[in-house]
Amino acid sequence: MAPPLQDQLAAIAARAADIANADARQLDDLKTELLGRKAGALTAILRSLPTLPPDDRRSVGQRANALRRDIEAAIEARHEALAETGRAHSVDPTMPGRARWRGALHPVTQVVDEICEIFRELGFARVVGPEAETEAYNFTKLNIPLDHPAADMHDTFYLAPGILLRTHTSPVQARVMEHYLPPIRVVVPGLCYRRDPFDPSHAPVFEQIEGLVVDEGVSFVDFKAAIDYFVHRFFARDTPVRFRPSYFPFTEPSAEVDVQCQICRGAGCPTCKQTGWMEIMGSGMVHPAVFEACGVDAERFTGYAFGMGPGRIALVRHGIPDIRMLYQNDMRFLEQFAE
Ligand code: DAH
Repeated sequence: MAPPLQDQLAAIAARAADIANADARQLDDLKTELLGRKAGALTAILRSLPTLPPDDRRSVGQRANALRRDIEAAIEARHEALAETGRAHSVDPTMPGRARWRGALHPVTQVVDEICEIFRELGFARVVGPEAETEAYNFTKLNIPLDHPAADMHDTFYLAPGILLRTHTSPVQARVMEHYLPPIRVVVPGLCYRRDPFDPSHAPVFEQIEGLVVDEGVSFVDFKAAIDYFVHRFFARDTPVRFRPSYFPFTEPSAEVDVQCQICRGAGCPTCKQTGWMEIMGSGMVHPAVFEACGVDAERFTGYAFGMGPGRIALVRHGIPDIRMLYQNDMRFLEQFAE
């Protein structure tokens, strides 16, 4: 036999106390459980009123109706409270999830990391140097006299007399040679500054990665082998590479390294100016004058150095038409390179 109606009402009242702390889903459940049209506990009692003896009908009826008003008011109040905190609707498990926003590395940073990682496989350590440099490190120790055209070829931002924003990462070569004894194998990523216009192919601030190897018996063959390894790890395995004679004050002999244009695969296109090749770095055997300026015994040691532009390489890799896009921090652009 069911418990007396007054006890059932007391149990319903006790259950209704949970409304005050219910979340949206619990609130829906409580409403169904207590006031549901088909199986609500209080609904059942209200429905049974006409069948009760007149005295019971009155006392039970009064109490049951009062309870219903209380419960309805409590539900209403709870609804409003939840709506205020934005949790009025219960969870719909069929809704698509909300993707969590994740940060990602900038496309140039990705290229820098990949390049340094490939050289790490060849035993190169990753080091950095200062962006504010002296003329000595930026120019003279690298065999660039201040009256040499190369010194103003690098249209320079000066901070103070003799102090400048480095125009390339090569000064770190000198710092490394002064600081460490051979054997030396380093790659040096970092920002460089030049008074260039900000146009589709120039930025006044840009990245370079310098490389330097100094040891006994290092030859141009070692250099070619390292660059071949790098190119075939970074670009497609069968990418053609060529070494072109060139001139830099800090290397002798000097070479520029080209890879087959990654956009037209050698056929000729606007990006490679119809040559089928793209220059990826300047390089050469370290000039004895640089060794001397940096306290390395040029009779005993030889070495090679190279400098490349990961920003340019990122453009080529992704077919980006304008270097400025790399530096404008437009999320619609950058999001495409999230890994
Ligand atoms: N420092 C040169 C530049 O900014 C690039 C470069 C060329 C670096 C030859 C080197 C090198 O280490 O051997 O244009």
